[in-house]
Parts: sequence; structure tokens; C-alpha cells
Amino acid sequence: MIEITSIVKTFAGMDRPAVDNVSLSIANGETLVLLGSSGCGKSTILKLLNRLLEPDSGEIRIGGTSSIQQPILELRRSLGYVIQHVGLFPHWTIEENISSPLRIQGVAASQRRSRSRELLEVVGLDPDDFCARFPDQLSGGQQQRVGVARALAADPDILLMDEPFGALDGVTREALQQEVLRLKSELGKTILFVTHDLFEALALGDRIGVMHQGRLEQVGSRSEILGNPSTPFVRELFEKPAQQLEIFRRSREDGK
Ligand SMILES: Nc1ncnc2c1ncn2[C@@H]1O[C@H](COP(=O)(O)OP(=O)(O)OP(=O)(O)O)[C@@H](O)[C@H]1O
Ligand SMILES: [Mg+2]
Repeated sequence: MIEITSIVKTFAGMDRPAVDNVSLSIANGETLVLLGSSGCGKSTILKLLNRLLEPDSGEIRIGGTSSIQQPILELRRSLGYVIQHVGLFPHWTIEENISSPLRIQGVAASQRRSRSRELLEVVGLDPDDFCARFPDQLSGGQQQRVGVARALAADPDILLMDEPFGALDGVTREALQQEVLRLKSELGKTILFVTHDLFEALALGDRIGVMHQGRLEQVGSRSEILGNPSTPFVRELFEKPAQQLEIFRRSREDGK
């Protein structure tokens, strides 16, 4: 579905590339989590996919077609983008925010309204209660849900989610992670999910890509990453969570 080959992106004034020769493929219906600490290049990869940025070299193919050969609006319609820090339009109602991608496409107001209501249901918010509110009348978690609804508005095959739950408390975060797992199984979307949270990566990723200083250190399933780390960086990163998961597993077995 997504095929990234040897992409490099260096910003002016930086002494090393923000994205350094990254290759990655994501299968149809797969959830791939890009994991890494602040500044390692995660958002830059999403922006390259969405063509908010262009790579210095390398190629991105989506559904078999090189992304530079696709008309940019068509490309963006096929990619739902949940941006870091939500980014709702403050002077638009929730309904208008959710349907904003459809407005760009010229979809009629009545259709936009019914789609917004449908999507509020999908992300677990009551349409009668939320449609007419403004973003600052919602909690952080509710705003995040609206961000997800907006990304789904044009029914894209692919969702790019950039630390969508970064600012939330653990309980809300877990509830929204469950929501993503449900969306994935019910709607069959291909998801590229960015986080710096190890446990979020382990909870959501069919595969996890570990990034460090612009480079992709390893891509693999949960068990490959935990059991067979391919670099010292990956080993050290997962040492603690692997121990904690092991303690958790043992305590469950003892409890049986
Ligand atoms: N427009 C830009 N101009 C110059 N440098 C940039 C620009 N955008 C990002 N960078 C730099 O590129 C590097 C990667 O940034 P990026 O936003 O991809 O990181 P990230 O992994 O998403 O981090 P975070 O977890 O903090 O969001 C950083 O060093 C950042 O300062
Ligand atoms: Mg980022």
C-alpha cells in the first residue's frame, strides 16, 4: 500500500538529515507504528508522505503509483491526516471541522452534515450534543476524537496519525487506543501511527519501526523487536518494557 524507498530530507542549516535514507513498506490493512524520541524525524516522514514536504532523494509509492505523479489533492484525499496537537479550526463548529475535507471537495452542505454526524458516532461522541459546539468547549480527549473523525471524513484508505494522543492522561489514552484498534478492524484502514510511547507502540503496532536520529533502526513485529533487537539502541530502548511485560506475564500465570 505504501512503499518508501531510500528517502532523505535535510533541512537548511542542519548538520545531518532529519530523515536519513529511510526505506519502509506498509501492507494493506496493516498498522505500522513509528516509534522514536523527540526530533528523530517521525513527523517529517508523515509530511513527506502527504507532500507537505518533498524529499531530497528517494521515492514514495502509494497504491503502486509514485506520489509525485499523483495530483496533490487526490493524494491528500487518499490520506487521512491526524496532525500533532489536533489543529482544529477554533471558529468553526465541530460539525464544520469534521467535514472540512469534504468542503474542499465541494460536497453539498446537507451531505457534509450527515457525514459529520455519522463520524461523531464512529468516534464515540453524541452528535446531538457535539455538532454545534466549538473546539474550546471540548476536553482534550474529545478534541482528539474530533481530529480522528476529521481524518476519516473523506473515507481515505490510509490514516496518518501523528502522536494523536500525546497530550492525554493514561486512562483516556488507553480508551482512544482501543478506539483505533476498533477502527482498524471495522473499517480496515491502513494506519501509520507515530508515537514516542513504547507501550502505545506495543499495544497498537502490527509492526513497529524504531527511529533514532533520522534513521530507521529496525522494523519488526512486537516479538521480533522485543526478542531479537537488531541494534544496541533498540535493545536498550526495550529492555525495561520487556522486563515489565515478563513480570506481568509471570504474575498472571501465578494467579491462575
Ligand atoms: N521546517 C523545518 N525546518 C528546519 N528544521 C526542521 C523543520 N521541521 C523539522 N525540523 C527538524 O528536523 C528534525 C526532525 O523533526 P520532526 O518534526 O520530524 O521530529 P519528530 O520525530 O516528529 O519529533 P517530536 O516527537 O518532537 O514531534 C528536528 O531536528 C527538527 O528540529
Ligand atoms: Mg513530531
